[in-house]
Amino acid sequence: MTSYVTRKTPGDTSWFTHDRFGMFIHFGLYAMPARHEWVKTNEKISEEHYDLYFKYFNPDLYDPRDWARQAKAAGMKYVVMTTKHHEGFCLFDSQYTDYKSTNTPCGKDLIKEYVDAFRAEGLRVGFYYSLIDWHHPDFPIDVLHPRRDDADAFEQSQGRDMHKYAEYMRNQVTELLTNYGKIDILWFDFSYDGRDGDGAQSWMKGKGKNDWEADKLIATARSLQPDIIIDNRTDIEQDLWTPEQYQPVKWVTHQETGELVTWEACQTFSGSWGYYRDEQTWKSPEMLIRMLVNTVSCGGNLLMNVGPTSRGYLDYRAEEALKVYADWMKYNSRSIYGCTMAEPEFTAPADCRYTQSVDGSRLYLHMFAYPFAHLRLPGLAGKVKYAQFLHDGSEVLYTEGSIDHFSAKDENGDAGDLILYLPPVKPHTLVPVIELILE
Ligand code: GLC
Repeated sequence: MTSYVTRKTPGDTSWFTHDRFGMFIHFGLYAMPARHEWVKTNEKISEEHYDLYFKYFNPDLYDPRDWARQAKAAGMKYVVMTTKHHEGFCLFDSQYTDYKSTNTPCGKDLIKEYVDAFRAEGLRVGFYYSLIDWHHPDFPIDVLHPRRDDADAFEQSQGRDMHKYAEYMRNQVTELLTNYGKIDILWFDFSYDGRDGDGAQSWMKGKGKNDWEADKLIATARSLQPDIIIDNRTDIEQDLWTPEQYQPVKWVTHQETGELVTWEACQTFSGSWGYYRDEQTWKSPEMLIRMLVNTVSCGGNLLMNVGPTSRGYLDYRAEEALKVYADWMKYNSRSIYGCTMAEPEFTAPADCRYTQSVDGSRLYLHMFAYPFAHLRLPGLAGKVKYAQFLHDGSEVLYTEGSIDHFSAKDENGDAGDLILYLPPVKPHTLVPVIELILE
């Protein structure tokens, strides 16, 4: 067994840390402007104009079964979808608002179909729920709010009752965790306590756990689904640490105790969560695979996001990115599932990353750059029983100590090195993996 112990949390993360790889889905009215899910506030779009999206929202090609099939092929084992994002629009048939998909030309409870589709493909199902709400009449205007620069922002904010909004959230979370069967993850987003206004806007206050009444919100969720995994973004620590838009380079630790924590990086294929037509910064195939490997090599999970178009399908760039994972995971997933950071005694050579099976028996060497002829693995002499490429199960020969060639006599190899003999041509897989079966 590997030696890592993570900080104990209220929910059940055992399946989660085994599965390692999930799909994030950001879908909402913002798919129509197609200029980032924050478009309403970025552009301070008027309520009147934003209502057009509600009026014409019609994802006629919405087919979550197709998404689910692609997610499964990509090797993703669970999924988290927005039930409501910051814009406040609900994709489910809530009795506490009219601002929901069933009241648009779409006419459907999109969450119901989503849950059924992903469950049918055998994936675990999660809900993202935005704490922020730019539509709810009781949500006080703050520095992130679309109406912040209106001349009468102060007047508009009068009489807004945060308690009522907090109650609204509890009611909706109750609906979400009651009407759709077992839900595995609840992903709240996000707190910004202390981000208050200044100058003429100093009456604007950031929001955190007290505003959300997060303790009650979490208690509500746990009473309905005790084992559910909840993230930390209500501002109250739960199960999940969620680094976003940067990749941790070591296992994430608890701020106070230093314990290892359960963490999940969430990332985008391009620079936006919601569908963004003109965004061009799509990550390269190599980078996509490396991000997954890097994550698991530091003991974390990866949640990769897709932002479906307003017609409800995944655009070709997202499909291509998923295909990159599908092609790689088809043959290499054994170095991901049930794997974690390698024991500290194993130091990967340059341009390589290790993962290790949690039972300790196998070490996986991922080659980000493919070297010529030999690869030295420090400290592994005498510790390996067998080595093979993972993608095709073909044997990889090796020696120990020093390279066996007349010209290599003076090579100052280390007796503890294991030296792999590599074929000259890089195998036909983006990141080749060698499986080392340990003594
Ligand atoms: C950010 C953004 C948001 C996105 C989320 C995903 O907090 O506000 O748009 O949903 O990250 O992690």
